Amino acid sequence: MNDNDTLSATRRRLLATVGTAGAASVAGCGFQAPRADDGSDAPAESPTARVDGLERYPRIRVGSVDELAEGDVETFAYPLDGTENFLTRIAGEAWGGVGPENSIVAFSGLCTHMGCPVQGQVKPEREMAGPCPCHYTTFDLSKGGLVVSGAATTDLPQIRLEVEDGDVYATGVDGLSYGYRDNLRDGEPVTAEETEG
Ligand code: FES
Repeated sequence: MNDNDTLSATRRRLLATVGTAGAASVAGCGFQAPRADDGSDAPAESPTARVDGLERYPRIRVGSVDELAEGDVETFAYPLDGTENFLTRIAGEAWGGVGPENSIVAFSGLCTHMGCPVQGQVKPEREMAGPCPCHYTTFDLSKGGLVVSGAATTDLPQIRLEVEDGDVYATGVDGLSYGYRDNLRDGEPVTAEETEG
């Protein structure tokens, strides 16, 4: 055996040792590949497949122009079950507003700083949401949820609205709802009365 053969044999032994140690290390840390629910060895459905159900924003009726008086605040889930938002009619005109004087707006109910609820802190007469109960961020509802003060650095996601025959519909979200990698994933979609376009 020449020097090159000896070197190759040594490399093979070294790689085999590293491979065995690596496998033992993975086993030792408790990692287990996901299994199917039926207990078989078949791999579980991939996370990507599980969350691929909603490919575009649904169009959902969330209120009525006639039934929403100035100062009212209503909550609704959109676009996924459990994604909290609020609908309100503020005192003046708003960016993205609909209805009388473009004063009806909707926003995510979760603060963009750390996700504390702000839908209980909506003040339509002042056109504000907040201060957030956790770290006091206040958002301007007339200017697309702009951060006015406090710890948050991202504006409150605004729900796109349309009015048709006196009914208010949610048709999309501008901004990422707190706690989601994607507004359309990781949950069950709300029931759509009518889908967009
Ligand atoms: S969670 Fe709202 S300011 Fe921190």
